[in-house]
Order: sequence, then structure tokens, then C-alpha cells
Amino acid sequence: MKNIGQLHGVGLGPGATDLMSVRADRLIRGAKHIAFFRKMGSKGHAWTIASPLLSRDVNEIALEYPVTTEIKLTDPRYNEVLSEFYANCCNRLKEYLGNGEDVVVLCEGDPFFYGSFMHLHSRLANFARIQVVPATTGMSGAWTATGQPITWGDDVLTVLMGTMPKEELVYQMNKTDALVIMKIGKNYQKVKAALKEANLFNRAWSVHYATMENQKVLKLSDYLSEEMPYFGIILVHGTGRRP
Ligand SMILES: C[S@@+](CC[C@H](N)C(=O)[O-])C[C@H]1O[C@@H](n2cnc3c(N)ncnc32)[C@H](O)[C@@H]1O
Repeated sequence: MKNIGQLHGVGLGPGATDLMSVRADRLIRGAKHIAFFRKMGSKGHAWTIASPLLSRDVNEIALEYPVTTEIKLTDPRYNEVLSEFYANCCNRLKEYLGNGEDVVVLCEGDPFFYGSFMHLHSRLANFARIQVVPATTGMSGAWTATGQPITWGDDVLTVLMGTMPKEELVYQMNKTDALVIMKIGKNYQKVKAALKEANLFNRAWSVHYATMENQKVLKLSDYLSEEMPYFGIILVHGTGRRP
């Protein structure tokens, strides 16, 4: 792999810039090329978190999702469109890596925890050396924001995605002690119905933009909107052994 640049998948942590690791800080400040995912027309959460650290002449490689919620996850076109998108992203990054240039990919939270970076990692693993920098996850920032531990003793913690079918959500909710739900957004009404069916609604909390300036923490029963922001997490704390 001589003359091929190194790809760095750098976890940014939950949002507050000073919750980033020393290694992430060093790599981002020193980066010549940074890549980051974003929704078309937005700056992107990853870029926003890292922006105070970017050098003035950094080359920004914005990887803009072709779809977010326009095509249903169950539609076969969803995988086709995203697979083509990730292949195109890799081709763009290969141009730099192939010229011996290093690229830093900014990742919200931890890169290997439900992040888009892994779709680059799996496609580029045979092309370039890849360094992944782990980080504090968004959910860790979220339960800390509630001021209560998420798990005690032997509590089982389950992480669910709001994109899952309601029946599956209820099934998993009924089996767990403590719960984290991510990727809620437009799925909020379905998630809320599932929490009610599993008798967890009154114990649930919502945390938006955990650790960021606009952080909002509420008992879910006090949250009255129809939808939830993309950067939102629902939590149910465990009630396990407390000697
Ligand atoms: C694609 S996943 C990425 C998770 C990320 N890799 C991590 O380690 O937290 C995106 C989801 O993470 C959750 N999330 C990440 N950071 C968050 C934060 N600071 N506040 C609230 N939700 C957050 C939201 O539920 C969002 O829909």
C-alpha cells in the first residue's frame, strides 16, 4: 500500500467540541482534506461539531445523501440508491488516497456505532490503511444529560432504531430493562405508540442535541410535538440492583 494515503474515521463524540478525544482534536486540526456526510442543503452535524477546529485552507469534501426519508427502507430502491452513493463517495476519496494524501472523515459519535462511515470502511479496507478513532456515543451524552445512570446491576440495555417496525419495537421493549431509541424523527408517533403498548411511556425521557448548546431534556410525557429532531434520543433508565 505504498504511496496510498491513510483514511481516518474520526469519532467526534456527542456534540460538545470539548468532549472530543485528544487524538480526534489533533487529527482534525492537522487535516488537509476532511470529508463528512450531510443532508443536501444543510451544513451537517459532523461539520458543525468540528468546524471550530478546521484549518482555514482545509479542503472540504461534502458527501451529500441522495435520499434520507423520501424512499422507504423496505423499498428495494433504497439499498440500490445508497449503495451507488457510497460507491461514488469512495471513488471521490480514492482520488486523494491514490495520490498519497490522507483524508479525515468526520463521524458523529463513534464511527463504528450505527454510523455511515462503516459503509466507506468496508469498501475501502482493501485500498487504503484505515485508522478509526473511537468516541463517546450520542446516547452516552443523552443519558448523562438526564442526570441519571442508564443501567444498574445486571440490567440489560437494548438499543433500538425508530425505523424498525412497531411490532418489533414492542417485542424488544418487553424484553429489556433499560432502553435507548435512536433515529426517531418522523417515526416518533410509531415509537410513542410502541412505548405505550410496552408500558414504558411514562418512564421515558427525550433528549435532543445532547451536550450541544441547544440541548433539550424532557420527560417524554411533556413532549407535545408530532415529530422529533434527527438528533434526538429516547431513553428508559434501568431499575436494577442498588445495594
Ligand atoms: C446514524 S446514528 C449515529 C450514531 C453515532 N455514531 C453515535 O455514536 O452516537 C444518528 C442518531 O444518533 C443519535 N444521536 C447522536 N448524537 C446525538 C446527540 N448528541 N443528541 C441526540 N441524539 C444523538 C440520534 O438518534 C440520531 O438519529
